Amino acid sequence: MSHSNLDFSENHYRQLLEKSTDLVVRQFADINQQKGYHDHPQKEVENWFEEELPEEGMDPNLLLDEVEEKVLNTATGNLGPHMYAYVMSGGNQMAIIAEQLANTINQNQTKWHLAPAMNEIEKRVVQWTATMLGFPDGAGGVMVSGGSAANLTGMTVGRNLFFEKEEVRKTGLFGKKPFVVYASEEVHSCVDKSVELLGIGTDHLRKIRTKSNFQIDLEVLKKQIEKDLTLGLRPFCIIGNAGTVNTGAIDDLEALANLAEQYGLWFHVDGAYGGLAAILEDLKPQYKGMERADSIAIDFHKWLYQPFEGGCTLVRSWDGLRRTYFKKAAYLDTELANDGNRLEYNEHYFQLSRNAKAFKVWMSIKAYGMKRLRAMIQKDIDLTDYLNVQVRESEDFELVAESKLAVSCFRYVGNMTSKAEIVNFNRELMPQLEKDGRVFIMGTQLRGDYAIRACFINHRKSRETTDYLLLVIREVAEKMLVQKSQLTI
Ligand SMILES: Cc1ncc(COP(=O)(O)O)c(C=O)c1O
Repeated sequence: MSHSNLDFSENHYRQLLEKSTDLVVRQFADINQQKGYHDHPQKEVENWFEEELPEEGMDPNLLLDEVEEKVLNTATGNLGPHMYAYVMSGGNQMAIIAEQLANTINQNQTKWHLAPAMNEIEKRVVQWTATMLGFPDGAGGVMVSGGSAANLTGMTVGRNLFFEKEEVRKTGLFGKKPFVVYASEEVHSCVDKSVELLGIGTDHLRKIRTKSNFQIDLEVLKKQIEKDLTLGLRPFCIIGNAGTVNTGAIDDLEALANLAEQYGLWFHVDGAYGGLAAILEDLKPQYKGMERADSIAIDFHKWLYQPFEGGCTLVRSWDGLRRTYFKKAAYLDTELANDGNRLEYNEHYFQLSRNAKAFKVWMSIKAYGMKRLRAMIQKDIDLTDYLNVQVRESEDFELVAESKLAVSCFRYVGNMTSKAEIVNFNRELMPQLEKDGRVFIMGTQLRGDYAIRACFINHRKSRETTDYLLLVIREVAEKMLVQKSQLTI
């Protein structure tokens, strides 16, 4: 290693890259055997990294060996087909290559001349996303870290434009009557966090009851808006779900767009979970109205199979972003370096330094093509339908909620008959499944009752791996039942 800077010699660097490439490729060998979870106690994992701050560097080859042993070989199986918890899309190989290349040239997306090609790529990805969702040409958009940031960004633009005449950016919220935000009770918790961060407060987030299909109840919503108006509050934003995280429910977005129009409110759509499935012709009608939103949150690390992180906020115009975020600063001035056509991302978003998140999306779309990506989304949905059939036809499982968006909620019932016993058993099942580790799955609460929740957003799943899911749950559950019966003898 040269000591005048941190670089390796060319040969040494090539050898290290080859070794790290081997590590990457090995992650995909026998991927169907990859465990969902490795059950190491927290203290044990903490101890692996117990070390004084190193004063001297170590041999990078040994470091890569250590990384393989402690990090790669113990990694939760997000890549593989046995991950069903949360929303873990498995990433894709082209995006891995893109990330390495983007990190190599280390561009900063904040000003056009710091990253000309990457800036134009981000604008192109924004345009493509607008096209996918039926948004107008020329819509503005910004890559963000994920769905939470995308929702916060959409709501921030909404708040700043809605209250622009009152100069909310300058005067803050002091002395103003509370603004009210409306969403269904199934809305993602990042919306709660966003209203907190925006100074609106969760007391002014109205979580509207849902119907039996988990869609927002429009009558209740309308009554609540009327009530808030009579109380002298200021209804400001309706949030529609384009796929809830629990069950994939899509609100009636057309009706929400109409209500927003009727009352003059900002209409934001949380499409982080399911927005991108609108690219499937069969599903498109269910998203009708999304194209009328003022802002949409999208997550590419869900249904465009990107490695973390990558989300996007779309708004109807670039101007909306600029009126929300532009700040003049002498060191950012563009007077001497802009031919009038350069779009400066720092003027359209909160962050100054930004990495090139759109690059992996752009490379993935170009390498695989939308036709193939659509086919993968369809496969996720078809496999979920397949699971639902297996569950329905089995004698020891019950289906609790199904969806068109690759998420299924069900319970193991065995021979149990009391609902309370079944619900409780399924809750106890979760830690046992984690310990077993062959599959990684979690649960959720639906109308207050616990259920297992399987998310199928991962292009590496198949019918065989779906059968394996039920087999593993059944085995672990039966073992638990035997242990329970032994305890009661
Ligand atoms: C509907 C919905 N909104 C927002 C989010 C938050 O996205 P992220 O985890 O990328 O911040 C999620 C995540 O699952 C989601 O499903």
